Amino acid sequence: MTRISVLPSLLSCDFAHLADELQRCAVAGASELHVDVMDSHFVPNLTIGPMLVAAMRRHTDLILDVHLMMTRPLPYVDAFRSAGADRIYVHVEAIGPRGIDQAISQIAATGAEVGLAFNPDTDPLMWLDALRQVDAAMLMTVYPGFGGQAFIEAVRPRLQALREACPQLPIQVDGGIGRDTAERVVADGATRLVCGNAFFGDPDPAGFLAWAEGLG
Ligand code: DX5
Ligand code: ZN
Repeated sequence: MTRISVLPSLLSCDFAHLADELQRCAVAGASELHVDVMDSHFVPNLTIGPMLVAAMRRHTDLILDVHLMMTRPLPYVDAFRSAGADRIYVHVEAIGPRGIDQAISQIAATGAEVGLAFNPDTDPLMWLDALRQVDAAMLMTVYPGFGGQAFIEAVRPRLQALREACPQLPIQVDGGIGRDTAERVVADGATRLVCGNAFFGDPDPAGFLAWAEGLG
């Protein structure tokens, strides 16, 4: 039996009632929350900065899993960590092969868990050396930038191959994960499911979370 966690993606929450939404996630049984940081350059959308992460931190004890969709994430790593990020993901496409060692050591030096994120058309097996030095991988199952997009089925063989190559690594999937797709990605080896619309759009988010975590 594998432990599966659902991470509500706050991108789909009501930001005008952020403290209540954080509370709603905790009451529904979440232990980790996913925070999407977009810089309007790496992706065509602009969202959350360290100030808002600090505001979240004041209202929740849950693990803050921070997904940096930024062309230049490293100058901001310390700020996000000080704001309260527990785990920080950077995209390998933004860092590039020459910057990867520095990125990993810079995030690790803050004390945060280190995560590497991969766009749908990036092969994570090209980054195996780096993956052996980090705490988690995240495969995007949509092109990053927006919530509510359709799951990209073509990522599944990459997920299966990554699970085979890294049997112990926590593997997160992000984008289009819900009642119709969660079973498939868990079967493929995902252990953490980021769910935006599927969680916040469900009339019974606790029921959804319990169902998805029960797939393990
Ligand atoms: C997309 C973000 C996701 C997004 C997922 O770029 O990284 O975390 O919130 O939303 P859903 O689950 O609605 O596809
Ligand atoms: Zn995300």
